[in-house]
Amino acid sequence: MHDFRYVGNQLHCEGVAVGTLVKKFGTPLYVYSQRTLTNHFQNLDRAMAPVDHLICFAMKSNSNQSVLRTLANLGGGFDIVSSGELQRVIAAGGDPGKCVFAGVGKTAAEIEFALRRGVYSFNVESEPELQRINQVAARLKKIAPVAVRVNPNVDAHTHAKITTGTYENKFGIAFEQIESVYARASMLKHLRLRGLQMHIGSQLTTVAPFEQAVRKVIPIVQRLQQRHGLEFFSIGGGLGIVYQPALASGDAAWWHKQGGKMLTPETYAARLVPRLQPLGLRILMEPGRFISGNAGILVTRVEYVKRTGKKNFVIVDGAMNDLIRPAFYDAYHEIVPVLRKGGATIKSDVVGPICESGDYFCKDRPLPKVGTGDQLALLSAGAYGFVMASNYNTRPLAAEVLVNGKKYAAVRERQPVKAIWAGEKIAAWLK
Ligand code: LLP
Repeated sequence: MHDFRYVGNQLHCEGVAVGTLVKKFGTPLYVYSQRTLTNHFQNLDRAMAPVDHLICFAMKSNSNQSVLRTLANLGGGFDIVSSGELQRVIAAGGDPGKCVFAGVGKTAAEIEFALRRGVYSFNVESEPELQRINQVAARLKKIAPVAVRVNPNVDAHTHAKITTGTYENKFGIAFEQIESVYARASMLKHLRLRGLQMHIGSQLTTVAPFEQAVRKVIPIVQRLQQRHGLEFFSIGGGLGIVYQPALASGDAAWWHKQGGKMLTPETYAARLVPRLQPLGLRILMEPGRFISGNAGILVTRVEYVKRTGKKNFVIVDGAMNDLIRPAFYDAYHEIVPVLRKGGATIKSDVVGPICESGDYFCKDRPLPKVGTGDQLALLSAGAYGFVMASNYNTRPLAAEVLVNGKKYAAVRERQPVKAIWAGEKIAAWLK
């Protein structure tokens, strides 16, 4: 659920008309709802209340300072994947002691920085990494808290590019090897074996793969707990959201009519808590998309409508550099007009101005007829939207706005175009 809905014919984010934000800040524009972020965090937090737990927001999904501060204020921690992300957490007032540091390629400098700042745990992906962390910790005369990421070899049945829990991909250490890895790691004097971690993939829409992975891994967790005194078990992120139409517009009744089984925090917790509770361990979660996905939209303006013999192209000022998910994953984002006019729909391709045929937001989708100057909103763009943006075609990064009730604030100004090449130089011999 989220807080984007029509009031009359105008799309609103909470108590603010999106059209008002466009007038003030221009397009392309990301708009985030603070209430939606808060609700998603609190719903999951409440559902998991029967176990000692910590929600570490996967900030790779949305790392705007105001988004981080919102979640830090709610008591959240963060799943980080670079020292840059840790610096962002610190800048936003988050607590490094509530951060878990994931990723297959941590550099020695990153490990040192995270160790000095006191992260809660390193989620380790290989034995060479364990050795490197041990070495850095020895040099700093510190003990590094670590958790090894187990690859449970469970198929998450999601998009190939975001499946992580099978042996076909680079993540984690094979299920069968995990206990011997812990045995060897326990010899490394500057490590503290604090937990075990797993993450099987992203955008999972049923609870079954989570349950299967948890069931498979629990016996190992218990043995490791006895041998090495683990303190936590991280079950990763990956809770999926609804991108399909109608529900994404907040129409729960429609969803129930479809007999849809949205993965709710209640279902997730109901199936997992009874298995996790007897462990007596602290449970960590690393949701990204579940918290931020439906909390953001990308607003774009129609520049031209081009009708060819076969097609109706709606050419907008947003592009694949602003939101790459349709081009990269064939991802579906619902597209709605900021001002609803009614009338007939027409099959349309919404495309950006970039010189690539992959630069589209949808193809042959029935949409209301629009003309130059009309605004469209791409829904569910709060996760893996702005964070994956680039300057391709020397297009400045979009502005971002946060809404809270009737209040709103620019939480990132539109990038000035000259900032794009500010770090570049003309080589001396060319002058
Ligand atoms: N934990 C780990 C170790 C991860 O690798 C990820 C995401 C998460 C947590 C958070 O997953 P979430 O709860 O957001 O599903 N760019 C892609 C998604 C990439 C996900 C990468 N890892 C997309 O736009 O769909």
